[in-house]
Amino acid sequence: MKNIVLIGFMGVGKGSVAREIVKQSNLIALDTDDIIESMENRRIKKIFAEEGEEYFRTLERKVAQWLQKEVKGTLISTGGGFFKVPNLKKIGTVVYLSAPFETIHNRILEHPDAQKKLRKRPLFQDIDKAVKLYDERSALYKKVADIVIDVSNKDIPDIAKEILKKVK
Ligand code: S3P
Repeated sequence: MKNIVLIGFMGVGKGSVAREIVKQSNLIALDTDDIIESMENRRIKKIFAEEGEEYFRTLERKVAQWLQKEVKGTLISTGGGFFKVPNLKKIGTVVYLSAPFETIHNRILEHPDAQKKLRKRPLFQDIDKAVKLYDERSALYKKVADIVIDVSNKDIPDIAKEILKKVK
């Protein structure tokens, strides 16, 4: 089976959906941000602060090469900017989780650990900049996706079910 690659904006729920897919299937999940944090032995926030965004993007491209070569039949959740790696489509079936910015922002704010969720995301520090990034990226996510799933007003188990049905 091909890998499943979840893409989408920060806070849309890629991690939660990945955990639910794991529950509903026998797939094993990897997360590109987690891989980068273990490679570097420091948090994403710290990598951005100490090395800058471009360094982080280089790590994403390195992870993407490794995934393409070495990983099969796995569910891969990604950081919100990972979709720009040049070999994305060679990694697996690309599934875009889509929702309006308002929905995403509210989803973060409703979380019991909302402040922590916001703090750990360097590109979500300034709301106007985050909206701009969302606007820039929306069409690009859609363009690169094999499957688009509108996740607004759906619960996580149903989203997971829908993805598993569509990738079969
Ligand atoms: C980023 C999203 C983050 C993380 C980094 C950059 C982005 O992942 O990879 O802060 O460019 O959108 P999440 O989508 O899990 O927040």
